[in-house]
Amino acid sequence: MKFLSIEESNSQELESLLDLAAEMKSTRGTTSNQPLAGQTWAIIFTKASTRTRVSFEVGIRELGGNVMFLSGNDIQLGRGEPIKDTARVLGRMVHGAVIRTFDQEDVEDFSSYSGIPTINALTDKEHPCQILADLLTIQEKLGTWEGKKVVFIGDGNNNMSRSWMWAAKYLGFEFVVAAPKSCLPPQDFIDHLDAPNVALITDPAAAAKNADVINTDVWLSMGQEGQDEKEALFGDYQVNDDLLSHCSPNHIVLHCLPAYRGKEISEETLEAHANTIFQQAENRLHVQKAVLATLVE
Ligand code: CP
Repeated sequence: MKFLSIEESNSQELESLLDLAAEMKSTRGTTSNQPLAGQTWAIIFTKASTRTRVSFEVGIRELGGNVMFLSGNDIQLGRGEPIKDTARVLGRMVHGAVIRTFDQEDVEDFSSYSGIPTINALTDKEHPCQILADLLTIQEKLGTWEGKKVVFIGDGNNNMSRSWMWAAKYLGFEFVVAAPKSCLPPQDFIDHLDAPNVALITDPAAAAKNADVINTDVWLSMGQEGQDEKEALFGDYQVNDDLLSHCSPNHIVLHCLPAYRGKEISEETLEAHANTIFQQAENRLHVQKAVLATLVE
């Protein structure tokens, strides 16, 4: 009844969601299966979004459901109504909720107090739907993640990096985080993760050596805008042709978008890998339809 993090997932769930996503992608527009028929889902966002909002709105409609978008600023949540009260109200009116916000605790509280299927559409802690889309893209482009070296270059302590580390733990591929020392995940997280196949490194070129997948994200996550001192740490961490010269010949580049060209990725590299990166964006739709359909089974 909930999909709130990769941490709380497992290899079987991830693989079965990806199998269903691949099937839904290949049969899109040709099936009359509508598992959300008669349902209304709420999309509650307190942060900006293009890909996540559009893919969930389209996905819910394609699965036969109705959808309402609620900006956190427009509902009483933005004026201080507690999340647990919002959850108890919506739980009596809608059939499921997709939430993008700051605190992971808020999506967890919403799930417990509403009693309806709840999906994490990004918190400061995790971005689980994005990781599903990234994994589907790796499967499509490279055939498998098994035996591959996947590298994350950027803020190693952000939601993307954390969700990726849990995916690596459960699926077993080699995963390297390359970040400035102060932006690596803290030791207590690494102890909790307990994944020998996850490595932390400060040298981006060494991390990229023989990599099959280079993955990056904005240097400053939503809510960190204006943190110039933090941004200045990332000067050597741009994904560009120099960095990619260290990778395996058949490497792919992923970016969850939106991209800041000239910062975490060069214009040339983004355009050279646009086919993969926008396929990755499209895959948000297919993996989220799989999550929605699975939660209402
Ligand atoms: N990648 C991602 O979550 O994009 P949006 O912020 O546009 O939803």
